[in-house]
Amino acid sequence: MFPNTRLRRLRYNATLRNMVQEHHVHRSDLIMPVFIHFGSGITREISSMPGIFQFSTDTVIDECKRLYESGVTSIILFGIPDKKDDTGLCACEEDGLIQNAIRLIKKQVPNLFVIADVCNCEYTTHGHCGTIVDGDVDNDLTLQTLKKQSVSLASAGVDMIAPSDMMDGRIGAIRRELDTRNFEKIPIMSYSAKYASAFYGPFRDAAQSSPQFGDRKTYQMNPPNVREAIREVELDIAEGADIVMVKPALSYLDVIKTIKEQVHVPVAAYNVSGEYSMVKAAGLQGWIDEESLVMEMLQSMKRAGADIIISYHTQDIISKLV
Ligand code: PBG
Repeated sequence: MFPNTRLRRLRYNATLRNMVQEHHVHRSDLIMPVFIHFGSGITREISSMPGIFQFSTDTVIDECKRLYESGVTSIILFGIPDKKDDTGLCACEEDGLIQNAIRLIKKQVPNLFVIADVCNCEYTTHGHCGTIVDGDVDNDLTLQTLKKQSVSLASAGVDMIAPSDMMDGRIGAIRRELDTRNFEKIPIMSYSAKYASAFYGPFRDAAQSSPQFGDRKTYQMNPPNVREAIREVELDIAEGADIVMVKPALSYLDVIKTIKEQVHVPVAAYNVSGEYSMVKAAGLQGWIDEESLVMEMLQSMKRAGADIIISYHTQDIISKLV
């Protein structure tokens, strides 16, 4: 009790403050998203995400070298292909856009850990995350495409896959398929608790993956739910997920904390496009101190229980971290 106890005693000196800091963001916690566009010679800034670019498979190599040299240890790839089809089969081709990018990056920047998003939405003409039957995404048919896409990414040499489609049973289906093809060493980071969120808006510009009709509410989770997130995570772990993810991050810190308390696998948080764009916009206006704000947000995700954070801010903040 006061006056014996004075909590300010541990705050007067910066060294001591650091010594008693409870949570830290490390370089190795962060994953930088990278968008690969078809064609060549492309370095195109995404208008709703200042500082984030689409690259073609040739220009992305220099970008990956730059990221790696600046301290980024891991990236996650998203593709914008030249052709799309009804079922997203073009995501499964051996020499598809992302498959080629993986081969090139792993050859040129071998120590950069490369993750690939597994989902149909960037590859379907209708922009939904799977095969449409009677006006909605058919769960079990979509599993077939996801399995093919996962095997093609593994064959191209990806280090980890991250299914983001939210179909039921996909982790088990993908795990079995990978294992049958001798890819039992490829880990799966599942977008387990992925909400139907308005925070994905800028990403859909960046990846040209907006649904052409309807929305994603029949497969992504309803934002007010948290018990359901536990069920999603438990099922994914039972099916073989190595890492589970909560997405978005900022408005879902309670979900991250709940999941962390319930399970014993590493938990990832996706600090999504809309969260990035809000901060960037205010930073560019000079309304906030962007760097301090980003650090505080990432720290809040760690405090909530995230072991891993996917963030577009990674490239801006990496030099401030160890
Ligand atoms: C693909 C996918 C999306 C994001 C990651 N993977 C978009 C969506 O579900 O609509 C969103 C990432 C972001 O907003 O940064 N399904």
